[in-house]
Amino acid sequence: MREPRLTRAVALAPCAARRERALLQRWLAAPHVRRWWGDPARNLDDLLSPPVGGGEALIEVAARPVGYVRWQIPSRDELVEAGLGDLPEGTLDIDIAIGEPAYLGRGVASKALRLLVRRLCATPAPPAIMICTAVDNLAALRAYEAAGFVRDRLFEDPQFGAMWCLLISTVATPRLPRPRPR
Ligand SMILES: CC(C)(COP(=O)(O)OP(=O)(O)OC[C@H]1O[C@@H](n2cnc3c(N)ncnc32)[C@H](O)[C@@H]1OP(=O)(O)O)[C@@H](O)C(=O)NCCC(=O)NCCS
Repeated sequence: MREPRLTRAVALAPCAARRERALLQRWLAAPHVRRWWGDPARNLDDLLSPPVGGGEALIEVAARPVGYVRWQIPSRDELVEAGLGDLPEGTLDIDIAIGEPAYLGRGVASKALRLLVRRLCATPAPPAIMICTAVDNLAALRAYEAAGFVRDRLFEDPQFGAMWCLLISTVATPRLPRPRPR
């Protein structure tokens, strides 16, 4: 039987990777994360350095930390190297992992991304927000599209090979007035 959805209980909590080192180390070593993120030691080093122009958060479900999300502004050189040099200056790039296997496939990442995008699009909104994943990471693609990201292009990552770059509109949708009760 399918596990129940957890969407309603998802929240983003403040995080400093340095203080969550043991938790992040465990998540990075979990086979389902290692499969897509690669070398856990290298990734831990990366996470312990502050995100350039961005931030980080723990993903919680009913106050229990189950994952990690980080957003930062890639350098122009990094974008150019990946063939993404036409993306506007200040584009934010998101990385996400649900570390606790029991919480996979229950809508946690897509809800966390919706919450994050809403927060990032509060003024001043970045010119673009992207999220990338290997072309065969079907769970990631599904979660990102459920959060509103749209496949923009394929590119070749120097480390991970064929990837999809997905983008989301950073222009806030105007709220429509609620219909008056009759
Ligand atoms: C990618 C990841 C963040 C998604 O997190 P999640 O909380 O499981 O995502 P969601 O539940 O919101 O959405 C996943 C969707 O993919 C589906 N799915 C899971 N495995 C799948 C597969 N092998 N093929 C197709 N769809 C799959 C789920 O059923 C779900 O769809 P649904 O909501 O329609 O049921 C998580 O799998 C993860 O942390 N993976 C390891 C790290 C990683 O890959 N990070 C991203 C790439 S860099």
